[in-house]
Amino acid sequence: MESSEIKRIRQVYAEYRQQGRWSSLNPGREHIEAERLRQLSATLKKQNHSLFRYKILDIGCGSGDLLNWFHQEGAKAENLFGVDLLPDEVDSARRKYPKLTFTEANAENLELRDNSFDLISTFMVFSSILDEQTSKNVAKTITRLLRPGGVIAWYDLRYPNPNNPSVRAMTKTRIRQLFPNFHLKLHSTTLLPPVAEKLGRHTDLIYPLLGKIPVFRSHYVGLLEQGYSAPLSGRG
Ligand SMILES: C[S@@+](CC[C@H](N)C(=O)[O-])C[C@H]1O[C@@H](n2cnc3c(N)ncnc32)[C@H](O)[C@@H]1O
Repeated sequence: MESSEIKRIRQVYAEYRQQGRWSSLNPGREHIEAERLRQLSATLKKQNHSLFRYKILDIGCGSGDLLNWFHQEGAKAENLFGVDLLPDEVDSARRKYPKLTFTEANAENLELRDNSFDLISTFMVFSSILDEQTSKNVAKTITRLLRPGGVIAWYDLRYPNPNNPSVRAMTKTRIRQLFPNFHLKLHSTTLLPPVAEKLGRHTDLIYPLLGKIPVFRSHYVGLLEQGYSAPLSGRG
């Protein structure tokens, strides 16, 4: 039996789909997407994470682009798994990236082995979940599935969106409440999307300038590292 929160999330995404949100054809949106991946890549390299040996799970994988990016960054296709609530997103991911494994499931309750992933990514998922208990359940699943010393790759809103009551800010305080045993290695990123999306042909010039101003950055990107382990060196 599905909870009212999961029903609500399905409803919200059905409405987004009808409204045609998330077009990445806008140059500002393209910048946002490229920037967050560039920054995640730099952080992973700085912390010596070698994706080649990593088993990776993307929670709330949408149509699979992030998982495919991990593949491009060196992770093996057979080690890449994505889960999402929405059947249409999972179908689209399977069509786009047939070598990767996608499953339709609620991340509150995944039938996967404990300690079985080196890295779990979650991009723009917790901000979509308004119910406290549902957020806690998803965070517990992630913590359970991550092997000792594993990391979470994080990207999410740090500010509330006044135009969208269906999302909430994931401040560092909230992230720490959900993941109390992790160190946050996060930095602010993403020029406020309503601004970035209006830059048009000036995007290449203006985005980097405005993006330098910390208060204009609406998201966090980076890693959540388990507090008690030695640095990762991959699987032996
Ligand atoms: C804003 S979209 C982000 C998609 C993708 N991660 C990205 O960054 O492009 C959030 C996704 O999280 C998924 N999601 C939210 N709650 C979930 C849950 N409990 N279990 C699995 N997926 C969930 C939604 O279905 C949606 O596809």
